[in-house]
Amino acid sequence: MAAFKELVFSGVQPTGNLHLGNYLGAIKRFVEMQERAECLYCVVDLHAITLWQNPAELRTQIREVTAAFIAAGIDPRRSIVFNQSQVPQHAELAWIFNCVARLGWLNRMTQFKDKAGKDRENASVGLYDYPVLMAADILAYRATHVPVGEDQKQHLELTRDIAQKFNNDFAESILAHGHGEGFFPVTEPLIGGPAARVMSLRDGTKKMSKSDPSDYSRINLTDDADAIAQKVRKAKTDPEPLPSEAAGLAGRAEADNLVGIFAALQGSTREAVLAEYGGAQFSAFKGALVELAVESLAPLSAEMKQLVADPAHIDAILADGAERAEAIAAPTLDAVKDIVGFVRRGPTLRAV
Ligand code: TRP
Repeated sequence: MAAFKELVFSGVQPTGNLHLGNYLGAIKRFVEMQERAECLYCVVDLHAITLWQNPAELRTQIREVTAAFIAAGIDPRRSIVFNQSQVPQHAELAWIFNCVARLGWLNRMTQFKDKAGKDRENASVGLYDYPVLMAADILAYRATHVPVGEDQKQHLELTRDIAQKFNNDFAESILAHGHGEGFFPVTEPLIGGPAARVMSLRDGTKKMSKSDPSDYSRINLTDDADAIAQKVRKAKTDPEPLPSEAAGLAGRAEADNLVGIFAALQGSTREAVLAEYGGAQFSAFKGALVELAVESLAPLSAEMKQLVADPAHIDAILADGAERAEAIAAPTLDAVKDIVGFVRRGPTLRAV
């Protein structure tokens, strides 16, 4: 296998309000990744319309996710921040991958089954094809590392299968065009982090979700200090004081979640938090959590507000990102077209 330059890619859907789960499970890690490699962060609007979106709301959400990225500390000069529909190579490569991926592979995708629900006949073809587009997102840049949540693991495996099948099916042509052993890398998922799973504040066994009917179940990234404080104070707990070791959190879903959130916000571990708060009552611990949450999240929401108030500025960032993204994706697509055997408008690449 040829050596690929380390490159990080991840995407967030512009559907519904972003919350603490998106921040601690994804965006906070995106910020950290900038230290380690070149990063592309994509607002995946093509994925968003696999379920119907109100057009005006979709446009607002695209800008809001972009604002959240930047407010959280993603530097749009250093990393490439853009929205998927501005870079045509995503959809183009997805078509070619449609002809590489097998029906049997897609039939096994559990997220499609969950999202399509009972009335599968009525789901969009796009929803079914969602994971193929995701593979195209990643491989248009030949990205080597993808930070994602646990729920995306199966999609990443499909991405790896597509890369490998493409490398096999076109092995001779890939060699003939001077790309060595394999054209696409077998991408590594980066799953985990301190708070890969942030749970509902009302029910510690359910994931924090934008679709939970109770707004008290989540902290939105747009919540101000008062709202954050109120939600933390109302969060469900149990009657026992906090344990002094992480093992004592077993079977105490709400306690585990609040301690996990504290640790992730602080950049420490459950053990470290319990070393300090073991034996404390929830009332005292919640006081400290309110302070920490407000201190780390209120500036983010204030900055987001400022950014979304100037859509022209956001749009300029997205346009610049799209240009830089396309500069990477366009040569990939040229090479793919040559490998597959298409005749391009420009000269066909020989040994590149
Ligand atoms: N499916 C991802 C999610 O819902 C979003 C996504 C789309 C993505 N394309 C991607 C994530 C590529 C990582 C890489 O979370």
